[in-house]
Amino acid sequence: MNAEERFNEERAGRYDADIHKAIPGYEALHGMAGALLRLDLREDARVLVVGSGTGAEIVGLGAEEPGWSFTGVDPSGDMTAIARRRVADAGLAGRADLRVGYAHDLAPGERYDAATAILVMHFLPDDGQKLELLRAVSSRLEPGSPFILADLHGEPGSAWFERFFKAWKLYQLSRGRGHEHVEEQLRELPQLVHFVPEQRILELFDEAGFVETERFYAALLFGGWVARKA
Ligand SMILES: C[S@@+](CC[C@H](N)C(=O)[O-])C[C@H]1O[C@@H](n2cnc3c(N)ncnc32)[C@H](O)[C@@H]1O
Repeated sequence: MNAEERFNEERAGRYDADIHKAIPGYEALHGMAGALLRLDLREDARVLVVGSGTGAEIVGLGAEEPGWSFTGVDPSGDMTAIARRRVADAGLAGRADLRVGYAHDLAPGERYDAATAILVMHFLPDDGQKLELLRAVSSRLEPGSPFILADLHGEPGSAWFERFFKAWKLYQLSRGRGHEHVEEQLRELPQLVHFVPEQRILELFDEAGFVETERFYAALLFGGWVARKA
C-alpha cells in the first residue's frame, strides 16, 4: 500500500478528528516545530512543507506569522483537497501553493528558507527513498536553513520497541480512538511504515547535508528532530 492508497478519501475525511487521538503530543509537536522555526526565520520566509496532508503546518504557522509563504507537496489528492479548503477558510490561500506530488518534483532551482517533513519519511523504505526525500529537501534549502522532521522510529523486535508499541495501542484506546481503527492501523503498520532506529535517522541527515541535528520531541515511538542545512 502506498501513500495515495493509504490517504484516500475516506481516511482523509476522518484525519483531522482522528490524528490527535492517534499521535501522543501531536499539537505540541506542531507548536514546538513552529517555535523552533521562528527562532531563525525572517518575516518574509518561504517555507517548504513536505507531506502537507490536510494543511496543519500551513494553517498553524500561517496564522502566527503573517509574512511567511508556503509551498506544500503531498501525493494524496484527497488530503490536498482538504488542505486547500482549510487554507482558504483561514484566509491563507494567497500565501500557500499546495501541489499534489513529491519533494523531488519541485523545480531544482526552487529555494526555501526552512522546511518540514512531519510524519512522512517513515512511510518510505530505507532503500534509498528516505535519503532521496532528505536530499530533495536539502538541495532546495538556502545554506543554514532549519529543517524539522518527525517520524515513527525504532527497531521492531527490540524490547523497547515492543513495550512502547503496546503502550501506543493502549494510549490510543484511552484517548477514545475506535477499537476497529486502532486494530486496522496496527495490522497495516508493518507494510506501511519502514522503521529505522534513531541512529540511522541521524546518519541519513548527515548524508543528505544537514548538520547540528537535535532531538526536540519524544513520544513513545515518535521522535522529532531539528537540523540545519550545511
Ligand atoms: C500522517 S500524514 C501527516 C500530514 C501532516 N504533515 C501532519 O502533520 O498532519 C502523512 C502525509 O504524508 C503524505 N506522504 C506520504 N508519502 C509521501 C512522500 N513520499 N512525500 C510527501 N508526502 C508523502 C501522505 O499522503 C499524507 O498526507
